[in-house]
Amino acid sequence: MREILLHEPLDMHLHLRDGAMLRTFAPLSAHSFSGALIMPNLVPPVTDGEMVRAYRRRILDAVGDAVFEPYMTLFFKPEYNREFLEPLTEEITAIKLYPAGITTNSEGGVEGFEIDALAPALEAMSTLGIPLCIHGETGGFVMDREAEFVPIYEALADAFPDLTIVMEHITTAQSVAALDRHPNLYATITLHHLLITLDDVAGGMLRPHLFCKPIAKRPEDREALLEAALNAHPKVMFGSDSAPHPRHAKEAPGCAAGVFTAPIALPVLAELFSRHEKLENLQHFVSNNARQIYDLNPPKKTVRLTETPMRVPERYGDVVPLFAGEEIGWSIDSVEIE
Ligand code: NCD
Ligand code: ZN
Repeated sequence: MREILLHEPLDMHLHLRDGAMLRTFAPLSAHSFSGALIMPNLVPPVTDGEMVRAYRRRILDAVGDAVFEPYMTLFFKPEYNREFLEPLTEEITAIKLYPAGITTNSEGGVEGFEIDALAPALEAMSTLGIPLCIHGETGGFVMDREAEFVPIYEALADAFPDLTIVMEHITTAQSVAALDRHPNLYATITLHHLLITLDDVAGGMLRPHLFCKPIAKRPEDREALLEAALNAHPKVMFGSDSAPHPRHAKEAPGCAAGVFTAPIALPVLAELFSRHEKLENLQHFVSNNARQIYDLNPPKKTVRLTETPMRVPERYGDVVPLFAGEEIGWSIDSVEIE
């Protein structure tokens, strides 16, 4: 039976929501991850220090005794400046930029995309060493939105060479290629985009629980993502983009975007890396690269995963996870905290 020990696993793109959902979902991530980068797209979004502190407190309350570091983010506003951001550098790990209306709860995001209009805020982030995470999609045709955004990523990377820019949840071969052209461009990759293509979402019966932004793309895109993740590309980090929505919001005429994967992410990644004979690279993908890129020192946690099948629950609360009710090949055997 194969097994692997993962040290300080990190989820560098996570939606924990708020209220009752937060109390259900925070413990599920805190069980197996040492920490996670917490997305700020609440209603209203997290846009100042007080909101960051209050949300962090609610997350820690929901987590209870588990050892888990919520790495907090602010929701990008062009108005941010050095005076506003400087006192927050210890409390935030990154700032997340959403084009307005591009995904769930992003209505207050950036309208248009004038680099000049964003320059003062980005300049301040660059000098303060605050990384910029971007949901990189244009308002174009849904399959082309991310590829159309790549020139914007590249223009930003050139204009702000000292700014760490993370292309969030990349889904295309074009984004993977851009990584190697700019020293300050990095990326997160989700679990589901390593597994599915648009065919799985809409090629047969429509599967709402696989619908997310950015939408899963073509087989060759998935191949490019797999190649980067499995070979531990040093600029690529695991970010689940686990985004729970209640059943009534998914199984509906207007289906909310988001795939819920957090509790099964590590076993399924172990199964995937094992199947490709790349288990030794998983530590880099789920922790070391992120520690390096973000300069993190996460709390100690060792997760032992074994090739022991488990059946994925049909639901967590009112949310249907990826592989609901199906058997997966690996499971978490133990979690040790120092
Ligand atoms: C996310 C959500 O539900 O908050 N949805 C998604 O499809 N990924 C938002 C996001 O990251 O785009
Ligand atoms: Zn997300």
